[in-house]
Amino acid sequence: GSVMTVGELAEAIGVSAVELIKALIRRGVMANINQQIDFETAAKVAADFGVELVERTPEVVHQEKSLAEIVRASAQEPGAVPRPPVVTIMGHVDHGKTKLLDAIRHTNVAEGEAGGITQHIGAYQVEVQGRKITFLDTPGHEAFTAMRARGAQVTDIAVLVVAADDGVMPQTREAVAHARAANVPIIVAINKIDLPTANPARVKQQLAEIGVIVEEYGGDVPVVEVSAKQRLGIEDLLEMILLVADMHELKANPNRPAIGVIIEAKVDQRRGPVATVLVQTGTLKLNDVVVAGATWGRIRAMFDDRGRKVRRAEPSMPVEILGLENVPEAGDYLQVVEDERTAKEIATQRALKRRAEAAEARVVKLDEFHKGLE
Ligand code: GTP
Ligand code: MG
Repeated sequence: GSVMTVGELAEAIGVSAVELIKALIRRGVMANINQQIDFETAAKVAADFGVELVERTPEVVHQEKSLAEIVRASAQEPGAVPRPPVVTIMGHVDHGKTKLLDAIRHTNVAEGEAGGITQHIGAYQVEVQGRKITFLDTPGHEAFTAMRARGAQVTDIAVLVVAADDGVMPQTREAVAHARAANVPIIVAINKIDLPTANPARVKQQLAEIGVIVEEYGGDVPVVEVSAKQRLGIEDLLEMILLVADMHELKANPNRPAIGVIIEAKVDQRRGPVATVLVQTGTLKLNDVVVAGATWGRIRAMFDDRGRKVRRAEPSMPVEILGLENVPEAGDYLQVVEDERTAKEIATQRALKRRAEAAEARVVKLDEFHKGLE
């Protein structure tokens, strides 16, 4: 079976290492914090704290997979209502993704907000014609891969930024591959059209060569020509996003316990673990008990993308949350559960399973290493 250290088990159960070591001594096991203990021992001593350890089997992984299913299915539930589209900006380095996001944000922030908007989290919402659009800063490739491994789909629409002077580049192709793999519709934003060297026609030609056929070429991929720098075409792009969103009938059921995906997470010196969650279905509320990947907690505070305190977060809304015991991983699912006991149990199982998987990966690597020496 799997093994873990005393320190890790203490963390997983939610007790101090000292308390756990004392409990082990009562069971006749002398161990220090870094010592590894087997599953049987871990399960017995966990039971002393009222925590049932279940050796993580593939079902737990499936449980995470089934969350993706629940999210998808909730769009068909009787209580389902339209939700804002979630848009990810993708594209080659330096083609203007960040600048475009800035332009979008400024266009939609009331003048007079001192120094523009302070962005607190890597995800935010803008309002266009009274409708909301959620934008995600391009998550790193690892985050994408992690989400995909868990069956999570966070993006509804990919905006592919291609610089009009530079054209299709390696990461443009990669972004297209990501969007295709996730079956996400693409909107092309040909950026930097203000440059004298801009050649949008050539970009469209190059896109056609990699199978992205824009409308002018008889395909179905919409294109908008923009200049993030001069803020040209930004409104057109936003309108196009809403149009594409409308073709996909994006829905979720706000009247159920929330399920969301961790977009990013870190430890804040002052506030402890802080995570940005994109709520996918249901409504996340203050004081909800949640499991997030291999950790859990009770929502102590929530903030929107402007750093304002909120008490609830509906589908497609990104929020920063406080109250988790540990830092989850980007791509982890967050799920509201009945009570703390359930939360701890699921988190502990996941922590054990992940450790076992990590250990297995190390063994495999060592094997390869030995093979390499032969
Ligand atoms: P990475 O995050 O490094 O992948 O780059 P990015 O895609 O976010 O590009 P970024 O927004 O940082 O822009 C790269 C450079 O292009 C900056 O110097 C921008 O000022 C410039 N730039 C972005 N958009 C435009 C535009 O519309 N016109 C012109 N002329 N320059 C632009
Ligand atoms: Mg950038």
